[in-house]
Amino acid sequence: MTISIIVHGGAKTITEGKVEANHAGCLAAVEAGWTVLRSGGSAGEAVEAAIRVLETDQTFNAGFGATLNSEGEVELDAAMMEGDRLGWGAVAAVQGVRHPISVAHKIMDEKARLLVARSGERFAVEHGMEMCAKEDLISKEQQQEWEEEQEVIDRPNTVGCVALDASGTIVAGTSTGGTTGQPQGRVGDTALVGCGLYADNHLGGCSTTGDGESIIPVVLAKTAIDFLAGDTHPEEAAQKAIDTLVSKVEGEAGCILIDRQGRIGWSYNSSDMAVAYMTAEMDKPVAFIKKEEENNSKVASFEPHTEQMQTPHSPAA
Ligand code: GLY
Repeated sequence: MTISIIVHGGAKTITEGKVEANHAGCLAAVEAGWTVLRSGGSAGEAVEAAIRVLETDQTFNAGFGATLNSEGEVELDAAMMEGDRLGWGAVAAVQGVRHPISVAHKIMDEKARLLVARSGERFAVEHGMEMCAKEDLISKEQQQEWEEEQEVIDRPNTVGCVALDASGTIVAGTSTGGTTGQPQGRVGDTALVGCGLYADNHLGGCSTTGDGESIIPVVLAKTAIDFLAGDTHPEEAAQKAIDTLVSKVEGEAGCILIDRQGRIGWSYNSSDMAVAYMTAEMDKPVAFIKKEEENNSKVASFEPHTEQMQTPHSPAA
């Protein structure tokens, strides 16, 4: 077993001007989570630390800088699941909460584990979570896009993380602002166990991203986890899960996976997907926005003198 962590910054189209921000944000998140795992911290603490970084970075659709709903407001969903006792917690449609993933983590110990809107916000206040004015989570870019109703091609979509710690516990977390212009109160897959995330120490953990209305009917995260049965490699399981979605519904989605051995996999059917990961077998974390980049970097690492060798996180040629 190898301790490991993977994060995603969403299945989406990433324009050239945003490649670096996606790489940097995902790497920073992995490093935050890895620091926890390396010092003996739990997978839950690592996932929370990683997602808090992404929730702070306006490059991503979570926390500050999340996409705005039909009323021009940020409404946030987040969930966490741990694979030891199948514990889980979630909040949905909350406002003025800086780090919904921390609230989802905290709520795992409660009897009621999915709290929406005012109820989720009240829980956050009562448990000393960081609150702010709801307007403080709106970035200038999102406000401008909403006011101008711009046709934006690189719409952000959800963040997530899966980690395996030294005790063998696997935790998955997911956090989002939902879809651009969504009706007030709409909740997608992110807060739903089995859809936006799943974790079971006997198999692995998964966090998903994409169109909630497509992810929910194929129960994407649990579908991906089920494909890990029989020690199937997470790469194959992730691809099969996305193939299942494509064969049954329309829509874009992606998923990241870690199995109980600490092996990593990810797949998507969008144009790009921002991903970074680190395992105890690696010297340093790597980040990609396309699968081809990862494949190229693996080839390059076996051919160290190849002149066209790419750095692990340079854009694909
Ligand atoms: N995947 C985020 C959402 O559909 O809300």
